[in-house]
Amino acid sequence: MTASDGTHASPDTRKPWGEFVTVAIEDGIAWITLNRPEKRNAINPGIVYEMNAVLDAMEENDEAKVLVITGAGEAFSAGQDLKEYFRIPDAGPPLERERLYRANAAWQWRRMMYFPKPTIAMVNGWCFGGAFQVLIACDLAVAADEAVFGLSEINWGIIPAGIVTKSVAEVMRQRDALYYIMTGETFDGKRAKELGLVNISVPRAELRERTIKLAQTLMEKNPFVLRAAKTAYHHVKAMSWESAFEYLMAKSDATKYRDPEKGDQVGMKQFLDEKSYRPGLESYKRES
Ligand code: COA
Repeated sequence: MTASDGTHASPDTRKPWGEFVTVAIEDGIAWITLNRPEKRNAINPGIVYEMNAVLDAMEENDEAKVLVITGAGEAFSAGQDLKEYFRIPDAGPPLERERLYRANAAWQWRRMMYFPKPTIAMVNGWCFGGAFQVLIACDLAVAADEAVFGLSEINWGIIPAGIVTKSVAEVMRQRDALYYIMTGETFDGKRAKELGLVNISVPRAELRERTIKLAQTLMEKNPFVLRAAKTAYHHVKAMSWESAFEYLMAKSDATKYRDPEKGDQVGMKQFLDEKSYRPGLESYKRES
């Protein structure tokens, strides 16, 4: 295991992460852990700024092939920190508040959604409010059956803001989304699977192993094409059919042209000439 404590990337003496977020890279998986267990990993400014630094570093780190985001202790995350993210910044200078909110949107949404490597949310426990943004911005999600989810904002007099309502509207059906937005009722991992919020729900004892298995599946694929595939998915959602067709043809050509391992040619050679694999059932054998 490589323990990554953030020392190499710091322009000054302060570590860019390690106090509120820890990183450990093992067998290609970067385990990124929100680390405020005593506060149920509520997202404070420390987590916001450290996560931005972590994502920058993981983008460049060749040992990190797949990112798994999880929480220390009994929570995934209890959402935005009501004191340090809302009460104190709301009462402070407006410019500082704007900077914090912008940095939060950067990691929870813009960076994660288009992150060049696959991302998996491993929901180990409590997952509330702003944590939905993190969960939904990850490409895939695995939950513990015992995890507890909730859009609790209505219980303390606000709407699910940041970009939570938009995130929820992207992945949940309208009846379900409005039900949980308006009641604040909690649900478990199995229900999260039914609602389309996570891909897989397993007993907590199996959570890590199941997440590793999913990450290993992703690591067998061509990373350049994985990146292009997820980017294309997000872009075409907002396009007309005509635009999407044009964009996808151009994106496909660009991907084939720029793919350093020329995956399409390797795959075709192995299937058509060597007859060494079947693309419907497995990945081509990467040569690099
Ligand atoms: N913001 C700030 N602090 C939070 C927090 C949040 N979102 N969630 C938990 N904490 C803090 C608590 O204030 C408490 O701090 P203290 O020890 O200094 O008193 C500590 O974390 C432990 O919380 P506690 O409520 O005692 O833990 P629990 O295990 O009994 O309950 C929760 C866990 C998640 C159900 C409960 O903490 C909770 O409802 N949190 C708020 C969730 C929420 O509405 N989030 C939406 C924010 S967008």
